[in-house]
Amino acid sequence: MGLRDLSIRAKVAITILGALLVVLGVATTFSLRYWEQEQYALTNEHALMMAGTARSSVESGLAHGEAGWIRAQLDTMGTRAPFAGYRVVGRDGSILMSSVAAEEGVRRSGPPLPDPWDIPPDGKVFGGRGEAVYSVVLPLSGVGGPGGRGVLEFPIEVRRIEDGIRRGRTFGLLLTAVLGIGYAVVLGAMMEREVIRPFRTLERQVESQRRELTERAGFAEVGALASQVAHEIKRPLAGIQSAVEFIGHEYAMSEAQRELLGRVSGELAHVDETLRDMLSLARPVGLEPKPMSLHTTIDAALARLAGRPGMDRVAVVRTYDPAADAMLGDAGRIEQAVLNLCLNGVEAMADGGRLVVTTRRHTGAVVVEVADTGSGIPPENLDRILKPFFSTKALGTGLGLPLVLRVVSAHGGRLWVESEVGKGTTFHLELPVGEAAWQANAS
Ligand SMILES: Nc1ncnc2c1ncn2[C@@H]1O[C@H](COP(=O)(O)OP(=O)(O)O)[C@@H](O)[C@H]1O
Ligand SMILES: [Mg+2]
Repeated sequence: MGLRDLSIRAKVAITILGALLVVLGVATTFSLRYWEQEQYALTNEHALMMAGTARSSVESGLAHGEAGWIRAQLDTMGTRAPFAGYRVVGRDGSILMSSVAAEEGVRRSGPPLPDPWDIPPDGKVFGGRGEAVYSVVLPLSGVGGPGGRGVLEFPIEVRRIEDGIRRGRTFGLLLTAVLGIGYAVVLGAMMEREVIRPFRTLERQVESQRRELTERAGFAEVGALASQVAHEIKRPLAGIQSAVEFIGHEYAMSEAQRELLGRVSGELAHVDETLRDMLSLARPVGLEPKPMSLHTTIDAALARLAGRPGMDRVAVVRTYDPAADAMLGDAGRIEQAVLNLCLNGVEAMADGGRLVVTTRRHTGAVVVEVADTGSGIPPENLDRILKPFFSTKALGTGLGLPLVLRVVSAHGGRLWVESEVGKGTTFHLELPVGEAAWQANAS
């Protein structure tokens, strides 16, 4: 059982975790990629704005020929994030001014910048992430004299952006992991309640049905053998019984002899009853249920109680629910089952008491309750009373309740018992009404 439980749980857990990993993995990958692109887009926007401001200062400086002032402006602007320096490049590609002093007067290396006339007035991003160059470039007028044009370039510091992205990615993955674990726990709990538990109940039901079936299968074989043996014994037994009776009538005997003969007769009756019960247990229960009156059937069983030893001290009470009367079933066998329950009740009330037979209507089923105010069944015996040949009575066969169970199972019903030692016992016998009866009762 443990193994089977584990494998269901493991399967469900693997399914949940797998689905979660795929969903969260895909979602995280896409959102992180989008977010990274967004980081660059924002940086570009910011860079273009700052570069525009810087250009105005530089151009007014150029108009007044104040090179020192221009450099001071650029030194300030070029070190502000996201910039990693600055360059003023002439149309011919020579570097006129740079944050790196050694570059000045040298030709700009790397991919050539676009011509100043081709750059939109508000500037543009040149290159990008993962490319050889990543800068913001703007046309700069007044370079190399009035009317001349150059390019103002601000290289963008990729490291800063990448650092931000790395931090964001770590945070995102952490958040995903926490969410994933949270989801897994919640889903797991839900699965436990909605899937695993119902599944286990179902599994247990199937298991108990299977066990019942195998029990019945074994019963059928043993039953066939037993009924053969019973038939063989029954004939000579009848002969012995009449011989004993004959001896009792015909011969004069001492008190002790008569008592002995009485014991023989009693034992013979016991054997006979056992055989009868065994035969009844072995005989198949009618597979074809017929419309029947439950109350007439119970009445017939109660009528057969009359004259049994101890009956004079027992009051029989019937509480019938009229709605529980019509049903489909094997009336003869149900009568036998009810009789067995009533006999047990009477036998449990050696000092007298009340035998109450109640019927109830449930959805799709009727319940017959047989309650006595007798000795009760000790808890340790509750598991054994349904086993064939279990009896606590000197002359008991231990076959009465197994027969009840067989009749109930054959009808697709259920049997259960409540008992309290010293107070009494109630057997509940639930039988499906059968479709036709149900329709008749429902209208
Ligand atoms: N109503 C009852 N009150 C007390 N004990 C009962 C009752 N019904 C059954 N039992 C117990 O269950 C045992 C088995 O019952 P049953 O199968 O009818 O066999 P038997 O009646 O031949 O002993 C009884 O011997 C008795 O111990
Ligand atoms: Mg009995």
